[in-house]
Order: sequence, then structure tokens, then C-alpha cells
Amino acid sequence: MCGITAYVGDGQAYPYLLKGLERLEYRGYDSAGVATVNNGQVQLHKTPGKVEQLKSTVLPGKIGISHTRWATHGPPTKDNAHPHLCQTNSIALVHNGIIENYAQLRGQLQEKGYTFKSDTDTEVLVQLMNYYYGKTYNMEMALRKALHDVVGAYGIVAFHKDDPRLYAARKGSPLVVGIGDNENFVASDPAAFLDSTRRVLYLEDEDIAVVSKNDYEIKSLCVGEEECVHRTEESIDWDLSSVEKNGFEHFMLKEIMEQPESLKHCLAGRIDLTTGGIKVTIDLPEHFVKRLSKISIVACGTSSYAAYVGKYLIEKYSRIPVEVDVASEWRYKNPIVGPEDLVIVISQSGETADTLAALREAKKQGARSLGVINVVGSSMAREVDSGIYIHAGPEIGVASTKAFTGQVVALNFLALRLAEMRKDLRHEEVLLAIQELEKTPELVTSCLKEAPEIKEVASQIKDAKSVFFIGRGVNLATAMEGALKLKEISYIHSEFFPAGEMKHGPIALLEPGFPVVTFVNKNDPMYEKNLSSIQEAKARGAFIIAVADHVDAVLTSNADAILHVPTVPDILQPIINVIPLQLLAYYVALARGCEIDQPRNLAKSVTVE
Ligand code: AGP
Repeated sequence: MCGITAYVGDGQAYPYLLKGLERLEYRGYDSAGVATVNNGQVQLHKTPGKVEQLKSTVLPGKIGISHTRWATHGPPTKDNAHPHLCQTNSIALVHNGIIENYAQLRGQLQEKGYTFKSDTDTEVLVQLMNYYYGKTYNMEMALRKALHDVVGAYGIVAFHKDDPRLYAARKGSPLVVGIGDNENFVASDPAAFLDSTRRVLYLEDEDIAVVSKNDYEIKSLCVGEEECVHRTEESIDWDLSSVEKNGFEHFMLKEIMEQPESLKHCLAGRIDLTTGGIKVTIDLPEHFVKRLSKISIVACGTSSYAAYVGKYLIEKYSRIPVEVDVASEWRYKNPIVGPEDLVIVISQSGETADTLAALREAKKQGARSLGVINVVGSSMAREVDSGIYIHAGPEIGVASTKAFTGQVVALNFLALRLAEMRKDLRHEEVLLAIQELEKTPELVTSCLKEAPEIKEVASQIKDAKSVFFIGRGVNLATAMEGALKLKEISYIHSEFFPAGEMKHGPIALLEPGFPVVTFVNKNDPMYEKNLSSIQEAKARGAFIIAVADHVDAVLTSNADAILHVPTVPDILQPIINVIPLQLLAYYVALARGCEIDQPRNLAKSVTVE
């Protein structure tokens, strides 16, 4: 996913563009660039690497566009960096997404005498705009015609050197318009212009926006519906401090440490202990919920591991079979889904291409949809039939932490509400569950206090070649998430297994000192089995790290390290048991001198397939 910022106003564009890019760098950081217009000439500055590299130059001009890239077509070189110019240097364009038929369009343009400087699909788009501009002398028409030739996803902003307006269009990649005083903005994320204005308009798919310094028009790209569309102006209610590091060395550590706060936000206003009620609205017809015979949960990465917790909870309370699939598989397997089914999508960003496509496939098949989402106003948030925001605030670190725990709390609410609507649970049972949920922030605070001990354990495994995470029941999901955290920021090979599967193959890999992470919760019905798994691995010389709420003689004699957690019921264990694993991954990566917030090859939200 890439970051886009654009400015048009009375001020010099460059400072706004660079500040905005720095706020969006978490979205992708292979290369960056800026284009402005000054005295009727396009000024262009691009560089491989990070936004920091752009600061050596200041371009004049009161209209500009800029971009920080996560490479999809072509390596991160200067030529492949955005903005891209057409061959007459009159139109500049930045793009987030993928033009799937770019090769065919490129061939057609080459036959018309166009030449290309880059390997990107984006350059094809700007050359196509140039072609149509040569026929219409109208930027909006040129953009419409170019986009009608295109197959794919995009969020784009362009300008023409002789026209003081920004032209933006969106299909599948987020774009938001910021409304200022004699200045307006367009960006992938409102964080880019938040210190200038909190007034925003979220563009929808197939919107085209024409933005001048003191006006804007939003129309439909759909043929025959070119009239203006109305988009409601909204106000951003979070502040920039939630986007800045607040004194922490990394966003990831800040976001780990702020989980008591983010969980309080997720719980806020949703529990009424006096009535024992959950004030979470599931906008689905009661008769539909009562007749539910199957639920699908579809997500990617960390969100797909939270999905397994959702499966556990819904099956525990309502005994409805729940299928969990990664979105990249579900959307292409000709899913067995229809009007009687509920498809739940889980996504921190609300923009992940595979999950968004799965949601659209579900809706096309007539299924009802529900989203567990963090980013307000994101594509998925706007397209689901119903949803629960996790209110974790902006999550900047590429490795998801507070979003996962927020998702698990939200899934607890969802499972309880479904059970209430179906009368699968008595009121007292719901009350018991929400009384436990209410304690989550303080329980997480107690887990975070173990950070120094966890840092010590991290120093003991920082040179491991591989690490296994093994769990049972609901803690298999915790093992999944722990393995992903470690691998994606420390680059140590990490795998999860159902603990019972070790003896069916993986145990062959164990050798003296091989770290194995597992869970020991005393009220876990698999408590004894978990101890047996530890002894099995220990017998092969493994280095046992136990996330444990209870220490007995067996554990003391077999565990090389114990990461202490409080005792909680099963419904909270993925939240409580994951905290030490988040910290373990962070400290191992720190000890290895890894990048942490922006791990190699990754981006915060994968809005390409
Ligand atoms: C999590 O640490 C990863 N960065 C990644 O797996 C992420 O969870 C996945 O890309 C899904 O993102 P989403 O929740 O925004 O859809």
C-alpha cells in the first residue's frame, strides 16, 4: 500500500506534502517523490528510499502531489518512484493500487508513439491521460476516459500544469479530501493533513473529485451517472499524538504499551453492568440471526488469527459451526455462501485487498456481512451491512498488536450479542462474561509490568534459527499470532503448531536449545496435556518458554523461562497470553538491531493482491 498527499491553496505546497508523507510512511517506504507546478512548469523530485531523502530539495509551487511507495511493479528505483509525468511533462500523477491491464494499454500507447521511462503500471495511466487530454483538452474527461480503459484498483491524484485543480479518483484504494481555509488537501489517510484541518470527506469507490483551493466537486465515474454526488463532511476526532511516538523508541512498543487504553476505548459505552447488558448493535434482522446455521470469518494475517478466537467464542456460546478462511483463499474457492449466511470480515485497516474482495464476493452471493474493523470510514467499514469498530486508534507499527487485542474484545462482544439475540445464553451467563471483559485493561497492565523479565528471555533466544509456538484450544490462535509477531519483525523463522501435532512430525526438528513457546493456564481443560507437551519437548533438549498463570513442580523442572500472566477464563486468554509474546518479539527484534516499525518487504496494509 502506498501513501498519497496532495495540496492546493494559497501556501507553498512542498512543506505540507513532505509533512504529510512522513505521517503516511508506515503505508509503504520503498521510494518517494513530489511534483509541484511553478510558473506553468512541473517541478519534480523523486528518490529511492524514505521520505527523509526528499528534504534536501524544496520545490516551489502552490499546487502539488506526493507519494511514498510500496513497490508492486518494478523495483524501488528513482524512475519507478511516483509522481509520474506524461511525456509532454504537462500532467503529473500519483497512484495507489494496481492497473491489471497495464501491459496491454502500454502496448497500445507504444503503437501510438508513446515511450516509457519506468516499469510501472502508473506511468501507463498518466500517458493514457495525456492521450485523452490531447483529444479533449479537459482534465476531467481525460481522467474519465483513461479510467474507463483501466481494469484494476486505484486511488489517484493528478494535475495539469495549466490547471490549478487536483483531480482525484478512487476505486479500491482509500482517498480522503481535507477541507481547509483557502487550501484543500487529498490524501490516503487524514493523518497527512490533520494539523491543518479536521474537516474531511471520504471518497467512495467510483468517485471522482475535482478540488481547487477553495472549492471541490465530487462526481461519479460511472457512465451515465456523471452528475455530482453528495459526500457528507465529517470531523476527525482523534489527535496527532496518537499518530506520533509519544516518547517511545518505536510505534510498536508505544502500541503494545497503550493496550490498556485502547481496550478501554473498545469497551467504552458497550457494557452496562447494572442491566448486565451489552450495548453493541448488530444491524442484522433478528430472524436472520436466529436461523443462522453457518458463519464464515474471512481475514488475513493477524486478523485471521483473531478470527480463530471468534470461531472459538461463537461455537462456545451458540454452537453454530464457524469456518475461518484466509481471504486470499476464500475469495477464489467458489465459496459455499448465500442469503442465509453471515460472513464476518476482520481487518485493522479496512483496506486489505484480499479481505475487501472477499467481502464483495460474499455480498454478490447474497450473504449478509459484518465487519470487525479499526479504521473508521475505511472501505470495508463503509461496505459491510453491520459492524463493530474496535476503536484502537491509529496503528502505525506494521506488526499489529493493539488491533489484535481489540479485535478479540470486539469478537467477545459479537459472540455474546449473537448468543443473546438467539437466546443461546441466559442473562446471568452474559453478565458473567462482561464482568470478565471489564477487567481486561487492568489485567493487560499487569502483563506489561513483566517487560523487563521478558526482555531478559529475549536476549537468550535472539540468535535462534527457528522458534516453535505451540498451543491448544483457544491458545492455538495465540500461538499463531505469537509466531507471526516474532517472524515479521525479527526475521527469525517461527512456526505455530497445535501442541498435539508435535509428535506427528515437527518434533523431529527439535534439538538442544531449540526454543519452544507454549501456554500453561491452570483452568485450561488441557492443562495436563500442555504439561505433557512441555515434557515431550524438554526430553529433546528444547529451550522451553512457558506463558503461565500457575507454576508447579513439573513446570519448574521443565521450563527454562516462565512468562507470568494472571489467571483468566478461556475467553480472555488470547488477549492476556499474547502480551508477553508481543514483547518477546519486540525485544528479540531490538536485540537483533532490526527495523521493527517498518520490517523489510512488508507494509501496514496490503491493498494489492
Ligand atoms: C500483522 O502483524 C501483519 N502486519 C499483517 O499480517 C496484517 O495483520 C494483515 O495484513 C491484515 O491486515 P488488516 O487487519 O489491516 O486487514
